[in-house]
Amino acid sequence: MDASHVENDLVNVIFTEEQIQTRLRELAAEIEQDYAGKDLLIVGILRGAVMVMADLARSFTRHLEMDWMAVSSYGSGTKSSGVVRILKDLDTDISGRHVVIVDEIIDTGLTLSWLTANLASRSPASVEICTLLRKPEALTMPVDVRYIGWDIPNEFVVGYGLDYKERYRNLRDIGTLAPHVYS
Ligand code: PRP
Repeated sequence: MDASHVENDLVNVIFTEEQIQTRLRELAAEIEQDYAGKDLLIVGILRGAVMVMADLARSFTRHLEMDWMAVSSYGSGTKSSGVVRILKDLDTDISGRHVVIVDEIIDTGLTLSWLTANLASRSPASVEICTLLRKPEALTMPVDVRYIGWDIPNEFVVGYGLDYKERYRNLRDIGTLAPHVYS
């Protein structure tokens, strides 16, 4: 669905499908250049990163491998619980591998800060982060992000994998959720 199908639930559209696809092609080109001649494993963080992984991976003009992790850092609402747990681990042994973690948003930084340290402890050749969105004002811990789509204000955004209570993930665009939906 696109923003017109949920227009009463959104304050505005901040990134259209077209803008997202353009930015992901740019990021893929940058990553491809940086990893020229090296093998590459991209790790998507379920569930929100599914759309970013699918479109980012298809923007590459070379082979890469894909794996997935599921972690829990949020409850069903809009606030971080502060707890990270692995719900599904990698199927791949990453020792000696070049890894790029792919997520759709960095909010407090808790999830990716924890995940980067976790993966770094498995002796990979390198670990970097690619995120489509980051909320600098919401960060509570430092996260070293190599590839970033956009910095955004600290507002509740949905779409393109980002949910509110499991809805809006299949929205093609990214928009700011209207307060009446969650208050
Ligand atoms: C989102 C997102 C990040 C995390 C970022 O996942 O995919 O992994 O929150 O938040 P943080 O920087 O405050 O840790 P979420 O836990 O909502 O799960 P989901 O991907 O299944 O929606």
